[in-house]
Amino acid sequence: MLNVNELNVYYGQSHVLRNLSLQLAPAESLAIMGRNGMGKTTLLKSLVGMLPARSGSIQLAGEELLGRKSYQRVAAGIGFVPQGRMIFPLLTVEENIRTGMENTPEPNIPDYIFEYFPVLFEMRRRKGGNLSGGQQQQLAIARALVSNPKVLILDEPTEGIQPSIIKDIAQALNKLKKERGFSLIVSEQVLSFAMAVADRYLIIEKGEFVHSEVRETVDRERILRYLTI
Ligand SMILES: Nc1ncnc2c1ncn2[C@@H]1O[C@H](COP(=O)(O)OP(=O)(O)OP(=O)(O)O)[C@@H](O)[C@H]1O
Ligand SMILES: [Mg+2]
Repeated sequence: MLNVNELNVYYGQSHVLRNLSLQLAPAESLAIMGRNGMGKTTLLKSLVGMLPARSGSIQLAGEELLGRKSYQRVAAGIGFVPQGRMIFPLLTVEENIRTGMENTPEPNIPDYIFEYFPVLFEMRRRKGGNLSGGQQQQLAIARALVSNPKVLILDEPTEGIQPSIIKDIAQALNKLKKERGFSLIVSEQVLSFAMAVADRYLIIEKGEFVHSEVRETVDRERILRYLTI
């Protein structure tokens, strides 16, 4: 579904992603795990087209995305839930969701969105800025879903969110994934959440993948060591 090859990304002179490659199968779910500043956001923003890559390739269902603008990548099937959620605080919940529908043919927000996130229905006329962190996260996920992504990408979705809501979000993502059939990439530092939603775990350190595990044989201690030292 997604095939990333030898991706190199710089901030000015600073070489931040080094020859990163990853493959994601249809309906597969992958967690990118690593401590602060290791390159998770840089990788995800490069996939989405918010940062340019110096070299490499990013193919979605055989289509090359490198060099394409963000909105073109969204149209091709990339959905993105940014770190910090980045909802529009002065727009209503409904208006926020509609910003994700600019290139879709349907005029109305699909019913399934409010079935999965009933709180968004209750709050549909409230301003996004008045929602709690967990509600904003659900809103950011809804906004990404309405473009019908083939690959949904979430950057540290548990950051600043209380544990009970984290569980709800994991459950909603798992059901959505099953029902809608998209693949998932999530960056995370919380292992329990990563294990709840992802089949495979890649550890990133200083812009390189240094270790990989799959759910069936996962060595939790080893992953935790990468996350805490
Ligand atoms: N706009 C920028 N200009 C220059 N350097 C940057 C910029 N953004 C990030 N960096 C650097 O790139 C590296 C990777 O940062 P990145 O934000 O991708 O990390 P991260 O894994 O997402 O961290 P966190 O868990 O804190 O979100 C860090 O060394 C960071 O200081
Ligand atoms: Mg980050």
